[in-house]
Amino acid sequence: MEWPAWLCGLWALLLCAGGGGGGGAAPTATQPPVTNLSVSVENLCTIIWTWNPPEGASPNCSLWYFSHFGNKQDKKIAPETHRSKEVPLNERICLQVGSQCSTNESEKPSILVEKCISPPEGDPESAVTELQCIWHNLSYMKCSWLPGNKTGPDTNYTLYYWHSSLEKILRCENIYNEGQRIGCSFNLKDPSLEQGSIQIMVKDNAGKIRPSFNVVPLNSHVKPDPPDIKNLSFKNDGLYVEWKNPENFQSTCLLYEVEVNNSHIVSEIFPVEEIKCQSSEGRICLLFPSVLPDTLNTVRIRVKTNKYCYEDNNLWSNWSQAMSIGEKTSSTFYITILLIIPVIVAGAIIVLLLYLKRLKIIIFPPIPDPGKIFKEMFGDQNDDTLHWKKYDIYEKQTKEETDSVVLIENLK
Ligand SMILES: *[C@@H]1O[C@H](CO)[C@@H](O)[C@H](O)[C@H]1NC(C)=O
Ligand SMILES: *[C@@H]1O[C@H](CO)[C@@H](O)[C@H](O)[C@H]1NC(C)=O
Ligand SMILES: *[C@@H]1O[C@H](CO)[C@@H](O)[C@H](O)[C@H]1NC(C)=O
Ligand SMILES: *[C@@H]1O[C@H](CO)[C@@H](O)[C@H](O)[C@H]1NC(C)=O
Ligand SMILES: *[C@@H]1O[C@H](CO)[C@@H](O)[C@H](O)[C@H]1NC(C)=O
Ligand SMILES: *[C@@H]1O[C@H](CO)[C@@H](O)[C@H](O)[C@H]1NC(C)=O
Ligand SMILES: *[C@@H]1O[C@H](CO)[C@@H](O)[C@H](O)[C@H]1NC(C)=O
Ligand SMILES: *[C@@H]1O[C@H](CO)[C@@H](O)[C@H](O)[C@H]1NC(C)=O
Ligand SMILES: *[C@@H]1O[C@H](CO)[C@@H](O)[C@H](O)[C@H]1NC(C)=O
Repeated sequence: MEWPAWLCGLWALLLCAGGGGGGGAAPTATQPPVTNLSVSVENLCTIIWTWNPPEGASPNCSLWYFSHFGNKQDKKIAPETHRSKEVPLNERICLQVGSQCSTNESEKPSILVEKCISPPEGDPESAVTELQCIWHNLSYMKCSWLPGNKTGPDTNYTLYYWHSSLEKILRCENIYNEGQRIGCSFNLKDPSLEQGSIQIMVKDNAGKIRPSFNVVPLNSHVKPDPPDIKNLSFKNDGLYVEWKNPENFQSTCLLYEVEVNNSHIVSEIFPVEEIKCQSSEGRICLLFPSVLPDTLNTVRIRVKTNKYCYEDNNLWSNWSQAMSIGEKTSSTFYITILLIIPVIVAGAIIVLLLYLKRLKIIIFPPIPDPGKIFKEMFGDQNDDTLHWKKYDIYEKQTKEETDSVVLIENLK
C-alpha cells in the first residue's frame, strides 16, 4: 500500500493516517499479512488452506495465525500455517487469515487475506437434492437423494464415499430406486469411526449434473435394528417382558418404547429410559404393573439411540416382532361381536330396502306376510315414518322459515 506522496497529501487524513508505514515514522508497526495463501481439496470434502509466514515480521514476534470462515464463524488462533475443514462443497466457502504476535484474541491481527473455493461447475438445479444417509445397525450405510429438477429421467447416478479408515475413495455399487428417491447402500462396520464423519458425493456417469456433497457425522443418523422379544410372563400382578437388544448396541446407549395392546387398553405405549433389571444372557427385562392375564396382550418394542452415546436420536428402529400372551377367548369374543354386528345390520338394511322398494310408498300396518317378522320393529318406529311425511312438505316449510327470519330482521 504505497501511495504517491501527493496523493497522500490530498487524502492524508482519510487514507494514509496510520496506514502501512510507507513514509514517515510508523508509531505502532502493524503485523505484515501472511503470504501465498492457497486452498486445495483432499478426499471428497476435506478442504485445506495453507499459507506462508509473513515477510518482514519482527524477530521478536512469535507468530500466531488468526483465521475464520467467511461469515466470521469458527475463529481460531493457532501457530500452524494451515487449516482444514470437512465441509460439503455445495457452496462457495472462504477462509480469512491474518498473523499476530500473541494468542491474545484482542490483539489486532494483520490485514486479513482471503481465499475461497467454489463448488464444482454446473447448473445448481441439475444437482441432486436432499442427499441424506442413515447408518443402519452400525453395519451398513444407506444414502438416498431426489433427482435435481433439471435432470433427465435416464440419468445414471454414482455415489462415492470416503472416511478416515479408507485409503482411497470408494464407489457405491448398489444403486436402486425407492419410490421417488434413488439410493445406494454400502457396508460400514468399523466401530472406531463413531467419532468421525463420512464424506459423500453423488454425480452422474455422463458428467451432466453438478456433483452434490454431504458430510455425515457418524455419531448421529444411526438406526438400530429392532430388538427381539424373548419371553412374556405374568409375575407379581404385572406383565414381565424380556427382550434382547440389537447386536452392536450397549443397553446404556438405547432408549426403548414398549407397546402393549389388549382389549382393555387399545394401545398403550410405555417410553422406557431406565432399565430396571437385567437378567442373565444379556437380556433386558421390564415389569408392567396392572397388565392382567384375563385378556390377550400383544407386545412389541422398538429402540433408538440415546443422547448419552449419540448426537441426535430421532430414528426409531422398526418395531420388533409382536408377541402375545393371555386369554384369547375374550378377544375372540370381541372380534366375533365386532364382525357379527355389522353383518346383522347390513342384512336388516337390505331386507328393509327391498321391502320399501316393493311397496314404493310408506305404509302403515297391517303388514303383509313377508314382513311379519318385522312387525314389532315397525310398530315401534311409527314416529320415524313421520319424517317421510315431513319430507313431502319440505319446500313449503323452508319457505315459511325464511319468512320468519326476514320478519325477525325487520324487527331489529
Ligand atoms: C510464495 O511462493 C513462491 C512460489 O512458490 C515462493 O517463491 C515464495 O518464496 C513464497 N513466499 C514466501 C513468503 O514464502
Ligand atoms: C526485541 O527485544 C529486545 C529485548 O526485549 C529489544 O532490545 C529489541 O529492541 C526488540 N527488537 C524489536 C525489533 O522490537
Ligand atoms: C490482551 O490484550 C489486551 C489489550 O491489548 C489487554 O488488555 C489484555 O490484558 C490482554 N490479555 C492477555 C491475556 O494477555
Ligand atoms: C446387525 O449387525 C450384526 C452384527 O454386525 C449382524 O450380525 C446382523 O446381521 C446385522 N443385522 C442386519 C439386519 O444386517
Ligand atoms: C427447481 O428447484 C428450485 C429450487 O429448489 C426452484 O426454485 C425451481 O422453481 C425449481 N424449478 C422447477 C422447474 O421445478
Ligand atoms: C444409463 O445407462 C443405460 C444402461 O447402461 C444407458 O442405456 C443410458 O443411455 C444411460 N443414460 C445416460 C444418460 O447416459
Ligand atoms: C418365560 O418365563 C417364564 C417365567 O419366568 C418361564 O417359566 C419360562 O420358561 C420362560 N420361557 C422361555 C422360553 O424362556
Ligand atoms: C396396537 O394398537 C395400535 C393402535 O390401535 C395399532 O396401531 C398397532 O398396530 C397395534 N399393535 C399390534 C402389535 O397389533
Ligand atoms: C424396516 O421396515 C421396512 C419397511 O417395513 C423394511 O423395508 C426394512 O427392511 C425393515 N428394516 C429392518 C432392519 O428390519
